[in-house]
Amino acid sequence: MDAAPEDYGALADLHSRHFSRGWSASELEGLAAQSTVTILSARLVGKPKIAPAAFNIIRQTDSEAEILSIAVDTTYRRNGLGLRLMREAIRRLQADRVEALVLEVDATNVAAVSMYEKLGFETVGNRPGYYAADSKDPNANRATALVMRLDLT
Ligand SMILES: CC(C)(COP(=O)(O)OP(=O)(O)OC[C@H]1O[C@@H](n2cnc3c(N)ncnc32)[C@H](O)[C@@H]1OP(=O)(O)O)[C@@H](O)C(=O)NCCC(=O)NCCS
Repeated sequence: MDAAPEDYGALADLHSRHFSRGWSASELEGLAAQSTVTILSARLVGKPKIAPAAFNIIRQTDSEAEILSIAVDTTYRRNGLGLRLMREAIRRLQADRVEALVLEVDATNVAAVSMYEKLGFETVGNRPGYYAADSKDPNANRATALVMRLDLT
């Protein structure tokens, strides 16, 4: 479902636990205010009052959409929440006649790459050193980003 503004604080916490460059609640609010951006969130069935366990942030243009960020709380992983949020995004984009969904993912992120492949995404390119900018260690390994694409037509 669409994330409610009162959830942005919890979603910002969740985001900062998984990504080195976290997004604050006000940044999420700014994103949600853009007509091209959708923030989906998911709670566990029967737990409407606790904080969302997952989010999926999508940016949409006329013909193409992009996953900006997706994460599931560590405690609730492997329960199908990631797939559910991706399928909901795909359903909405197909209803809007968007032709393709693209994303960038760390090539070493086995869980995410496997989830995207399960949905039918194909690797269409890679960007060596893409994730180096966040590292404070100049000698740190530079992870390659895969560019993945799903045809929605
Ligand atoms: C990637 C992520 C969103 C998956 O969420 P999830 O709710 O645990 O995933 P699901 O339960 O829907 O699993 C869907 C499929 O993904 C794959 N998958 C998920 N976790 C996996 C793991 N630890 N190892 C291997 N494959 C995995 C499997 O193919 C799985 O299907 P299966 O359970 O039938 O085998 C979650 O691991 C996460 O939040 N990771 C940290 C943030 C992140 O990396 N985001 C992606 C950035 S591009």
